[in-house]
Amino acid sequence: MKTTRIWDLATRIFHWLLVFSVIGLIITGNVGGNAMEWHFRLGYVVFTLLLFRIVWGLIGGHWSRFTTFIYSPKSMINYLKGAHPKHHAIGHNPLGALSVFALLLTLSAQVATGLFSDDEIAAVGPLAKYVSNATVSQASFYHTEIGKLFIILLVVSHIGAILFYLLKKRENLVKPMIHGDKLVDADTPPSRDDGRMRLLALITLLACAAVVYLTVS
Ligand code: HEM
Ligand code: HEM
Repeated sequence: MKTTRIWDLATRIFHWLLVFSVIGLIITGNVGGNAMEWHFRLGYVVFTLLLFRIVWGLIGGHWSRFTTFIYSPKSMINYLKGAHPKHHAIGHNPLGALSVFALLLTLSAQVATGLFSDDEIAAVGPLAKYVSNATVSQASFYHTEIGKLFIILLVVSHIGAILFYLLKKRENLVKPMIHGDKLVDADTPPSRDDGRMRLLALITLLACAAVVYLTVS
């Protein structure tokens, strides 16, 4: 067994910034009024983070790449039966991967609809002026009545699953999401996480922020 880097620094920072921002978005969205100024700012942060994660899923460290956690339905069934190959339990396992993709997709839908939403008081998404009133009401309806509930439900089940692993399976998944490492078989490929990789992540993040800036301004 060997201590091996599984979650590169970029993925860990991505995760904890996402947690902080999504909690802030749920609070500021519900408070409304002046808090909407922060709702928009945090919304753009999440927009940037999601773009970053898509690119990082293609070029990031080994275990952050989508190719290491896109599983067939058969792999999921085998995982549930406990008959899975060892490497399916190192990064995101088949069930965890499902929840990761569900979170990323619902958050993307929330950002997309937020850009076209209008509360008919003062908060208007930056792209609402380019579409019809009917589209704006549909986007606002999804954003406030459906997407919000989906996200809360997914986050609660995400934390529930992590608690289940901790309490029932005696496996702490949170620590590796903080320091990056897991104790795994010595032949496990590590996620590359050196200075050059971190610089690549920073450049990618800045490029994603520029795309968001150009989209919303
Ligand atoms: C708003 C709340 C949250 C959101 C939106 C969220 C979202 C995500 C996402 C998208 C991933 C995939 C990471 C990646 O590969 O990029 C992930 C993984 C993870 N999250 Fe969260 N998360 C939230 C809250 C939390 C909290 C509060 C904890 C800890 C108590 C936590 C612990 C973890 C862990 C341990 C993983 C890795 C799971 C694994 O090993 O497969 N998350 N989360
Ligand atoms: C993951 C990201 C986001 C989350 C979790 C989120 C969550 C929320 C929540 C909980 C509300 C209040 C719903 C209610 O009144 O019951 C809200 C309202 C709103 N959000 Fe977001 N939001 C996100 C992203 C965005 C973005 C990127 C924008 C715009 C740039 C945006 C614009 C708005 C607007 C305009 C409203 C008021 C809509 C209305 O009352 O009809 N949101 N959001």
